[in-house]
Amino acid sequence: MARRSEKNLVVGLDVGTSKVAALVGEVKADDTVDVVGIGTHPSRGLKKGVVVDIESTVQSIQRAVEEAELMAGCEIHSVHAGIAGSHIHSVDSHGITAIKEHEVVQADVERVIDAAKAVAIPADQKILHILPQEFIIDSQEGIREPIGMSGVRLEARVHMVIGAVSAAENIVKCIRRCGLEVDDLVVGQLCSSYSVLSDDEKELGVCVIDIGGGTTDLAVFTDGAIRHTKVIPIAGDQVTNDIATALRTPRQHAEEIKIRHACALSSKDVSEDIEVPSIGERPARQLSRQNLAQVVEARYEELLGLLQDELRRSGFEERVAGGVVLTGGSARTEGLLELAENVFHMPVRLGLPQYVTGLDDAIADPAYATGVGLLIYAQQHRFAAGPDYAESKGLWGRMREWFRGNF
Ligand SMILES: Nc1ncnc2c1ncn2[C@@H]1O[C@H](COP(=O)(O)OP(=O)(O)OP(=O)(O)O)[C@@H](O)[C@H]1O
Ligand SMILES: [Mg+2]
Repeated sequence: MARRSEKNLVVGLDVGTSKVAALVGEVKADDTVDVVGIGTHPSRGLKKGVVVDIESTVQSIQRAVEEAELMAGCEIHSVHAGIAGSHIHSVDSHGITAIKEHEVVQADVERVIDAAKAVAIPADQKILHILPQEFIIDSQEGIREPIGMSGVRLEARVHMVIGAVSAAENIVKCIRRCGLEVDDLVVGQLCSSYSVLSDDEKELGVCVIDIGGGTTDLAVFTDGAIRHTKVIPIAGDQVTNDIATALRTPRQHAEEIKIRHACALSSKDVSEDIEVPSIGERPARQLSRQNLAQVVEARYEELLGLLQDELRRSGFEERVAGGVVLTGGSARTEGLLELAENVFHMPVRLGLPQYVTGLDDAIADPAYATGVGLLIYAQQHRFAAGPDYAESKGLWGRMREWFRGNF
């Protein structure tokens, strides 16, 4: 097989609670990403987005990466990896600096971001992202690209995403054990926002919710910038557990029943019967799909209620005119979008990964929102990465050096 030029490849590694997905993308001359390889493997070493078994996680990563390498015909050396878990939280911060030459240059932007970054963080936590929301020059608010503008005083409003050092170190450790380098760790909902949200939605105000197996990740965007992030440790696995308990069936059957028959809206016409295997030697039973829907609806109602509380607490509920975008594997649950519309009282749509080319059928699945988003993120920040791109020592380059220094 012809080997691809590895210089133009970007790799996203989504180490999720349900599956590990490795995606290889080729960056084209026009800066679009063509997906050329995908490898997935069930994930067994994570609980609620956090590594709890290094050995199993390493094996899952290895399998997924090998599969992706084979499909893409390349060797993977480094990856952009996703990170999730309820240890992740966010704070807004603010920095001020003088504009040295009365015209903003890159160094001024870096200084003001450094100033905004200077907040007290407990020793067991680390800043994962510093995401500029807006710059202010001499009281002129709402500036997105300050370089080249004149003024005396530069201010920055930033959104900082913070996570537990140990959780980040364990993910990095697992990836390094597979002989791979980590270019960057990117939080799940930020990844999903790259692959499922349009610029118009981010401008108008939108809430993206990634419901996976172990965690539900939320992010709010308004005026083109990220405003709020939150991870809730309830997702599809909990629904499977509920089904296993309520229907008294082994967990693997509960998962199958969920994927084939679950509906999150018990008021829908779901009257047909389904066969439910029993535990031990007992014979299988026939149960109404309605009973199943009631179990599923109860859990999703609780989860959506928590998400709505979070959106309210963030103060952005009134400002997400673009509505809610649901993604992640569990977003495929029948009736979930309607249930979410009933809870949020705003339009809700399914977020399928977009903005890349290649392997369309394979990636047209909300479970790949994080993986595809990692590719887009990697493409947009690749000039900050690796010795080939040493010429760019911009903000991202410095942040990456800082990241490498920290792990
Ligand atoms: N068709 C479907 N209907 C309902 N649920 C589904 C369907 N397909 C997948 N799921 C559920 O989606 C979940 C997995 O989603 P996903 O692959 O996004 O999780 P993950 O990224 O591995 O986990 P996490 O993001 O929580 O760490 C599982 O709970 C699975 O049961
Ligand atoms: Mg996920």
